[in-house]
Amino acid sequence: MPDANALRAARQRLETETGYGVASLPAARTAAPATGRAGSKAERLAELQRRYKDCMSCALGSRRTNLVFGSGDPDARLMFVGEAPGQDEDEQGLPFVGAAGQLLTKIIEAMKLTRQSVYIANTLKCRPPNNRAPLPEEQSACSPILEAQIDIIQPRVICALGKSAAQALLGTTEPIGRLRGRFHDRRGIKLMPTFHPAYLLRNPGDKKLVWQDCQTIMRELGLL
Ligand code: URA
Repeated sequence: MPDANALRAARQRLETETGYGVASLPAARTAAPATGRAGSKAERLAELQRRYKDCMSCALGSRRTNLVFGSGDPDARLMFVGEAPGQDEDEQGLPFVGAAGQLLTKIIEAMKLTRQSVYIANTLKCRPPNNRAPLPEEQSACSPILEAQIDIIQPRVICALGKSAAQALLGTTEPIGRLRGRFHDRRGIKLMPTFHPAYLLRNPGDKKLVWQDCQTIMRELGLL
């Protein structure tokens, strides 16, 4: 007998993939795919956020203060994806607002962009206890939200911040040190893995490598 969390996760995945409630699944089979539906990207993201606002697909749901959906420009050409909210993000309901977030803001500004002109999200939308790494079951319960965000935004480039995001988005276990430094094709979108800003706070010597990755992104976006 499947447990209640697994059933909830399956239901929510179905809702995301069809864009409809499970009650209307048969009709959804003939409906247009998520990328072809009407409404602006902002409206579609807002609808997605509403659909998941009370998400209990994994055990992290019952511990959160806020679900951290994502923020920025729904029409962004560049999307950053981090690991999971920390304490500051959980309290404020916004991604990357703590110490690592302040460094990310500096990186974005050094790229001649602003936080408002990019989109920032995480693989997990709820904070893991004591900021531990996401568990595989949390990643798979939460991935429909990130998949739908990417599907709606259709950024030209995704920058995966750190091992968790890069490995989850590319479906690999290769270490971040080997993944970073070049674009990977992710279903037609260029994905640049780089070190996480929290790692850079502990290892400032690697900032130059991240800056190289950012410059590769800037060239792709015509900013260099
Ligand atoms: N680290 C992340 O990966 N995401 C956040 O939102 C904050 C810190």
